[in-house]
Amino acid sequence: MIDQAYYESKNPVVIVTGASSGLGLAFVRLLDETLPEEISFWLIARDEEKLRRLAEGLQHATRCFALDLKEEYSFAVIEDALRSDGVTVQLLVNNAGEGMPGHFETHSVACHRSLCALNVSAQVTLTSIVLPYMEEGSAVIFTSSVAAFLPQPGFATYAASKAFILSFGRALAEELRPRHIGVTVTCPNPMLTEFFTSEEREKLLSSYKRFSIEDPVLVAKKTIAAVRKRKVVVVTSLLGRLVRLFSKVVPQHWIIRFVAKAAKEKP
Ligand SMILES: NC(=O)c1ccc[n+]([C@@H]2O[C@H](COP(=O)([O-])OP(=O)(O)OC[C@H]3O[C@@H](n4cnc5c(N)ncnc54)[C@H](OP(=O)(O)O)[C@@H]3O)[C@@H](O)[C@H]2O)c1
Repeated sequence: MIDQAYYESKNPVVIVTGASSGLGLAFVRLLDETLPEEISFWLIARDEEKLRRLAEGLQHATRCFALDLKEEYSFAVIEDALRSDGVTVQLLVNNAGEGMPGHFETHSVACHRSLCALNVSAQVTLTSIVLPYMEEGSAVIFTSSVAAFLPQPGFATYAASKAFILSFGRALAEELRPRHIGVTVTCPNPMLTEFFTSEEREKLLSSYKRFSIEDPVLVAKKTIAAVRKRKVVVVTSLLGRLVRLFSKVVPQHWIIRFVAKAAKEKP
């Protein structure tokens, strides 16, 4: 990836969505430490001030895109920039995402559509826009989740959105093999980031899921290592790998019942 082809590439860039906090921020900091300085960063999130402050502390030339990836116009802005700057995209990190815990019926139709717009539609759209600007040796990362391995009562739309990303990424990896473009889907367990409200964080810390909490910095490191090895799916924790194994060998309806009981959610 990135470290072999970049010096022959025209205007090499790395694009990271959800760059301003949590796992996206960990990706940016790690890439800033490890990538050659010729590569520019394009960082995407809604909060312009946060992006600007982050960019000031980076060694790489950085362009901030304060965009809402639920909005159609955002993709036109990125497409225009790709076209006018004549860049080669070495790495696209499709990371921005949001959660929505609670029973399906407790959320409005707008909430479900909004989650799908960011977690599913934005990732497919951005990938489609960026791929023509990639070359042999480029790579795409998708941030999925351990939630992708099993339907999750109490987190149904979110878990399904992550299952979509896992399925999409795996198929795309095969399609892009002849172009020698790598695709890696990363599947972390819960991380204590801004993804959770303080109330959700407390709930997480008092549930069985607290044993599975991961550090976003380590998740980023393991994911980038997997990209370099051209691994298609990386499950960044032992517990996550066990969940994946269980989901393959134990009848899924048993595990779904267990998850539903453990969540102790009321409709
Ligand atoms: N935290 C976990 O437990 C966990 C576990 C497994 C997988 N994941 C996945 O990891 C990814 C990163 O999550 P995180 O934990 O790092 O959460 P986070 O700290 O909340 O970060 C989310 C990032 O996405 C950006 N973002 C949110 N809505 C956006 C929008 N509409 N348009 C553009 N950017 C937007 C946020 O910046 P702005 O608010 O400025 O836009 C922020 O940079 C997500 O895909 C999530 O599903 C998280």
